[in-house]
Amino acid sequence: PYLKNQPIYFVILLKRVRMNKANNQSPMQLFLDTANIEDIKKYAAWGIVDGVTTNPTLIAKEGVSLEKRIKEICKVVNGPISSEVVSNDLDEMLKQGRAYAKWHRNVYVKVPMNAEGLQAVKILTKEGIKTNVTLVFSASQALLAAKAGATLVSPFIGRLDDIAQDGMKLIEEIVQIYKNYNFKTKVLVASTRHPRHIIEAAKLGADIATMPPEIMAKLIQHPLTDSGITKFLQDWDKVKNVQ
Ligand code: G3P
Repeated sequence: PYLKNQPIYFVILLKRVRMNKANNQSPMQLFLDTANIEDIKKYAAWGIVDGVTTNPTLIAKEGVSLEKRIKEICKVVNGPISSEVVSNDLDEMLKQGRAYAKWHRNVYVKVPMNAEGLQAVKILTKEGIKTNVTLVFSASQALLAAKAGATLVSPFIGRLDDIAQDGMKLIEEIVQIYKNYNFKTKVLVASTRHPRHIIEAAKLGADIATMPPEIMAKLIQHPLTDSGITKFLQDWDKVKNVQ
């Protein structure tokens, strides 16, 4: 029957592809925001981790060398792995970024949002190196990152919420601006603090959300699922031997 109905399946597939293109949709990606290799292995096993973001603070927590850890992560997750430059000097940023990019084809060079960072992004992009502009707190910064050719932009929503500003409003603005001009830069929602941040980011059509492992753990949980599973198993136990 599959072969007989093949043309119908083909038309449905084509329609789906067209719909996705029209809505500018590709599936939302979920990244882990950690440098802890055990956590990365644990959640990668779920099959839904698309990438990993790290920063100098997260690397420092692990007490390992950046190069060693990034290479380890690249073996576990086959997707963008962000590795951050640690300098405010343009030449040094470029030196570090070029070195990181040689570690693995999936390494994205994370660059801070400042004048040197913008220049570094422009140059690295020309060299074919993927970049992630980090520490973005305003729509104007996100606009400049896109103009410089950043592959990803990381607005930090939790840190904005922390100072009584609306982090999610910033995501809305960036998504709108990028859509208006068809910028290719992807919006990576960072500094997430709880599952609602992930849901709201998805509703706004953000390309990616990165989250600490604790939030990934919360995404799957629901008490009614747990009690439902327990009840089904208990009831099944009562009849499983009935002939
Ligand atoms: O990795 C960047 C960002 O997600 C850090 O978040 O929790 O330190 O504000 P946080």
